[in-house]
Parts: sequence; structure tokens; C-alpha cells
Amino acid sequence: MMNAEQVLTVSLGERSYPIVIGAQVLATIGKHLSEVSAIRTVALVTNATVAAFYLKPVVESLTASGFAVQPILIPDGEEFKSAETLAMVYDAAFAAGLDRGGMFLALGGGVVGDLTGYAAATFLRGVPFVQVPTTLLAQVDSSVGGKTGINHPRGKNLIGAFHQPLAVVADVATLLTLSDRDFCSGLAEVVKYGMVLDEKFFSFLEQNAHLIRQRQLDALQQIVLECCRIKALVVEKDEREGGLRAVLNYGHTFGHAVETLTKYQQFTHGEAVAIGMVQAARLAVMQGHGDLAVVDRLTRLLQIFDLPLALPPFSADEYDRALRSDKKVREGALTFVLNQGIGTFSFVKINDVAAMVQQLVKNHEIV
Ligand code: NAD
Ligand code: GLY
Repeated sequence: MMNAEQVLTVSLGERSYPIVIGAQVLATIGKHLSEVSAIRTVALVTNATVAAFYLKPVVESLTASGFAVQPILIPDGEEFKSAETLAMVYDAAFAAGLDRGGMFLALGGGVVGDLTGYAAATFLRGVPFVQVPTTLLAQVDSSVGGKTGINHPRGKNLIGAFHQPLAVVADVATLLTLSDRDFCSGLAEVVKYGMVLDEKFFSFLEQNAHLIRQRQLDALQQIVLECCRIKALVVEKDEREGGLRAVLNYGHTFGHAVETLTKYQQFTHGEAVAIGMVQAARLAVMQGHGDLAVVDRLTRLLQIFDLPLALPPFSADEYDRALRSDKKVREGALTFVLNQGIGTFSFVKINDVAAMVQQLVKNHEIV
């Protein structure tokens, strides 16, 4: 039997909002949005890939609940998370007559969600928006927590704003049309939550790994719910990443180095994060925060999720340089999020990044 829909709340005072999670919740999206807002004018941003599957049911449900909906289509791809696309969205919203009494709705993955959220944060000095994430990564991570933004020629996500949505509506049935590669990439972020914040959840992933990999809907609903619950707890404590929220960057420091060295061509973000988590777990062992059995459990789970583990073959020098270009480097030192065993973490400052990389690359055969 399929799970009924479930609702979580992200508690942020007057910026609090519900996350509705279930299979087929797109069909009732009009009802859900009516419950959170009196606004009835919606600029719906999506791309052609997602629109082909989901625009019709979303527009039908919204229209039946009395919303006037203006779809805005943007091109599909990370390269379009840009100032040019943003300008196009503003133009389309003005042309549709959107005013301060209207709102945006993002229907799609993290690219659509981040860009639409930033459009909402800035259009007419800020209007509300709703996240309707349709990738696993967007359902478990990017749609929750209010980070919005676009890329700049100098780097990813360099322009942005914190702008919390009015609501998140995550239909896990949309994950059935995702490519295998995008689905597995999202699983890397799922594993991240277990590794550093919740051992029980990590064990759940181990026990249900094959059902999850096969996209069994109840299992998907459970993982989206758990990840959103964990992320909400983090965001509630540290909305603007003054400290704790940086735990969500687990695996991302090495992940970014891998993405930079391979020029964003070889790995998806999730794949790079998977490689980065393995390196973080190995570094944790080197720093005395865990043993190799932890690295082993992590790598076994990532393997079932068809994610890569090994550092691509660049020299220690190249890794050192790529790590030092990270925006988190302060006076040559780099702060890593390291797992302590499974389910807890610490922030560890590494002063001699070069020596650490030498050792990690030298010991690479332990993976
Ligand atoms: P994406 O948005 O590019 O989506 C991946 C692909 O799947 C796209 O081609 C998309 O059109 C397609 N797609 C989306 N839903 C589909 C569906 N249901 N069926 C079939 N195809 C579908 O990529 P993503 O992985 O969702 O998001 C990556 C972006 O998220 C990056 O820009 C990253 O910076 C951002 N991000 C933001 C945060 C945050 O906190 N705001 C967190 C993590 C990542
Ligand atoms: N994806 C990291 C964050 O939301 O903080």
C-alpha cells in the first residue's frame, strides 16, 4: 500500500513553511497552495524536459483551485543558470503582468529551483515563491532552506540570496521519469545526511539500498521525508550558514576539487560529492576520527547506488591547487567537515593542505 502524503514544517518564525511529500501530490497542488497563501497569480518557471511530463497536471490542478497561471520556459542545463536566463525570466514575468500581488513557482530540478528562487527574491524587491522539486537532489536538498542563486563566469552559485519558499511540494512519483544518472547523483546527497547527521538513517539506507536503487515509491517517500526532516533541523538552527549549516558541505570540498580538475565534464555534482565523501571518510581515519570499517560501509553503499568512489588520476600538486582555490580557504588553511564514525561530525582545520593531500593520494590504494 502506498504511503499517504506527509507534511513537515520548517520552523523559521514568520518565514515558516510546509514541505508536502507524497506520490501524486502534483494532482492536488492547487489545494495545497490555497492553504498557504491567498495569492492567485502564478508565474510558473520550468524547462521543456520537465514540462513535457508535469506542466499539464500542475496547471490543471492550479486552475481548478482558482489560480491564474503563466508558464515561463527556460532552457535546460546548468549553463543556463545564468544572468541571461534570469533577465529572460524577469522580462516574461513583466510581460505576463506579474506584480507584487503575484508569486513564482519553480517546477523542476535544482537549476530551475535556484534560478526561480533568486528571480523571486529580486523581482520588484521580492515576491513569494513555491518550490515544486522534481529531481531527487532538489527534493532532498536544494528546494529546502532558502538558498537561491545563479552562476557567474567566475564560478558556481556566486550570485544569490537567502529567500525561503512559501511551501515545498515534493511528488516522489516524478522521480520515476528521471534518468538513472540524475537519480543516482541525488542519492549521494541522501547518503551525506546519514554519514554526518543520523546513523539510524544511514542504517536504513543500507537495509533498503536495493529497494531505493529500484525506486520503490514507499522507500523514496521515506528517504525524501527523512532528508527534509534532517535538513530542516539544521536550517532552523542556522538559517544563514553562520556555522552548523556548513555540515551540509560534507564531501563537497574534495567534490569541488574533482569538479574543477575535470572541468565539470566528467562527473555530475552528486558523483563528485560521492568521491569527496570517500576522501573525507579516509581523511577522518587519518585524523583519528574513525576506522576503516566506516570507509568500507560508505563505499559499499555508494557502490549499490552506482556512484563512483575513486579520485580521478591527478597529481597531489593538482589536488592541492584545486583545494586551495576553494572559496572556504582562509590564510592557506582549509576547514573540512569530517564524519566521526557514522552519524556525527566535526569541523577540522587542516593547515598543511599539501601534506594532507600527499598522504591521501599516496594511500589511495586503501579504497
Ligand atoms: P537539474 O536541475 O539540471 O536537473 C537534472 C536534469 O533532470 C535536467 O535535465 C532536468 O531537466 C531533468 N529533470 C528534472 N526533473 C525531471 C524529472 N522528474 N524527470 C525527468 N527529467 C527531469 O539538476 P539537479 O541535480 O536537480 O540540481 C543541480 C543544481 O542544484 C545545481 O545548480 C546546484 O548548484 C543546485 N543546488 C542548490 C542547492 C541549494 O541549497 N539551493 C543545493 C544543492 C544543489
Ligand atoms: N546544500 C547546502 C545548503 O543548503 O546549505
